[in-house]
Amino acid sequence: MILKKRNKKQENEAASAPEKKVRKLSVGKKIRLGILAFIAVYLIAALLSLIANGHINTAVYSEKTDKINGSVRVVLISDLHRTKFGADNEQLVERTAEQHPDIIAVDGDMLERDYTQDELDDLVGLFERLVRIAPVYFSVGNHDYCAFFKVIDQLGGDYLCGIEKNEALIRLENTGAVFLENEYRDIEVNGQKIRIGGFYGHAMQMEYDLQDGGASWARRKAFLQEFCGTDSYKLMLSHRPESFVRRSTEADWDIDLILCGHTHNGVLSLPFGLGAIWGSEGLFPEHDRGEFKIGTHSTMIISAGLAGWRFIPRVFNPPEIVVADIKGK
Ligand SMILES: [Fe+2]
Repeated sequence: MILKKRNKKQENEAASAPEKKVRKLSVGKKIRLGILAFIAVYLIAALLSLIANGHINTAVYSEKTDKINGSVRVVLISDLHRTKFGADNEQLVERTAEQHPDIIAVDGDMLERDYTQDELDDLVGLFERLVRIAPVYFSVGNHDYCAFFKVIDQLGGDYLCGIEKNEALIRLENTGAVFLENEYRDIEVNGQKIRIGGFYGHAMQMEYDLQDGGASWARRKAFLQEFCGTDSYKLMLSHRPESFVRRSTEADWDIDLILCGHTHNGVLSLPFGLGAIWGSEGLFPEHDRGEFKIGTHSTMIISAGLAGWRFIPRVFNPPEIVVADIKGK
């Protein structure tokens, strides 16, 4: 009887309780929540990356060759853009000095075309400290091309720059650093003969070469042929990997080591060192950062560089300098 009363009471409570409804989210709401969740995760990752971005990593590669005995250490610095590591870039100088390089290679995009006087002063100051560590060889990137050379024409926002040097390049050369664009030097380092060059253009004939009847390609080709004509170890500073990464036999030059920057490892990268999300080769680009075999002769090392991209911070992609140890077999 008591049990029956209880059951009755429970029935009454159940009847008076508000009806529980399983609410289903609309598709639109699910998408909005998904986007919000993605933005939240991205912002947290970006915040963590901003903290990590204050520290410069060192990526070390070892190159074996029978062209030298002993070893030569190259430190590669690239793509500083408008970033600074310490008030006077002292962290960048310290990281470089710690590696005890024989050669410092600075591989472009250290300034932007519309640089300020303060930015140029900072870069000149950086070069003055780098040349005290080791001989500095520098080349040009897409962002500092028109900072280094005078603008010839400006067509629809596209700048065409010639070969006449700007103030920025002259001041950087006056620090004692050697600028290389379609030029090379034969140097001796630790008793080893090295040919070091700089080459910004494409190492193959391009469609745009048809505009001047092939004259530009003929000049580039002549330079590359001359550069390759030695038994010394050949080291090329070439800002953009795509200058040599083409499925073309013309691009198969006899160069031992090609040092590149430009990609910033996509700026936004996958976690756990899985590579860039996006680059000039499209989604999940092959040539984002690291070491690659190019053609039958060359090894290419691509630095992830130092800066992000404008307002976009590096995510899962710490800034880096590269150490390339060239060692005799
Ligand atoms: Fe860059």
